[in-house]
Amino acid sequence: MRFLITAGPTREPIDPVRFISNRSSGKMGFAIASAALEAGHEVMLVTGPVCLAPPVGAQVVRVITGDEMFDAVQSRLAEADFLVMCAAVADFKPAEYSKNKIKKRNAPRAIALVPARDILSSLVHPKKKITIAGFAAETESLAENAQKKLREKRCDVIVGNDVSRMDTGLESDDNELVLFFRNGETIAMPRENKLVLARKLVKIFAQLAEKS
Ligand code: PMT
Repeated sequence: MRFLITAGPTREPIDPVRFISNRSSGKMGFAIASAALEAGHEVMLVTGPVCLAPPVGAQVVRVITGDEMFDAVQSRLAEADFLVMCAAVADFKPAEYSKNKIKKRNAPRAIALVPARDILSSLVHPKKKITIAGFAAETESLAENAQKKLREKRCDVIVGNDVSRMDTGLESDDNELVLFFRNGETIAMPRENKLVLARKLVKIFAQLAEKS
């Protein structure tokens, strides 16, 4: 099976040296890519800026902004059987970009933000069936918010991830997840190393794709 996996953060530039971004390290997405390769699948890994060595055997595409990630995913979607959107894509970006570095003396008192493109919601789907796993990074009402994203972002499964703690989730080597399926089924995955969790996720994803 061919997996298209996104990982890491995106960066939305303010000027040539500054940007807004988030704490995603890429560890979870890279672990899923490694686990999929280990299980004998083909992997296309689209990653934002991270400091991780790419898994051997993956076709790696490096991007910076959310728009670049959208283009990289859209252009490879027809080749994929399964899309895993693990990347922490920016929800907002600066309304304006300054092509020169903003001088300290001209520092704006506020930076206006506009909504960034939602990749999952704006993908044009090819004719063939592609099974889609989204992630939902939440700090409150995990089940409710994840189920809403499952429906609104047209996913087959969504992986709920509590990101309010420092010992799991963002940047950590460990994670704790809850999967929500369209038929109402849920699977809780207690805290474990991200690669161990990723192996379980890949097994579940492959079974889901076979059923779809
Ligand atoms: O990278 P790590 O440090 O290992 O951390 C892993 C993680 C916490 C980043 C990861 O497990 C995770 O939860 N990823 C999803 C982060 C996120 O952006 O969640 P969200 O709830 O804001 O978005 C929901 C879904 O929509 C996600 O699949 C996301 O990729 C997608 N999205 C979000 C924004 C956007 N503009 N376009 C999107 O497609």
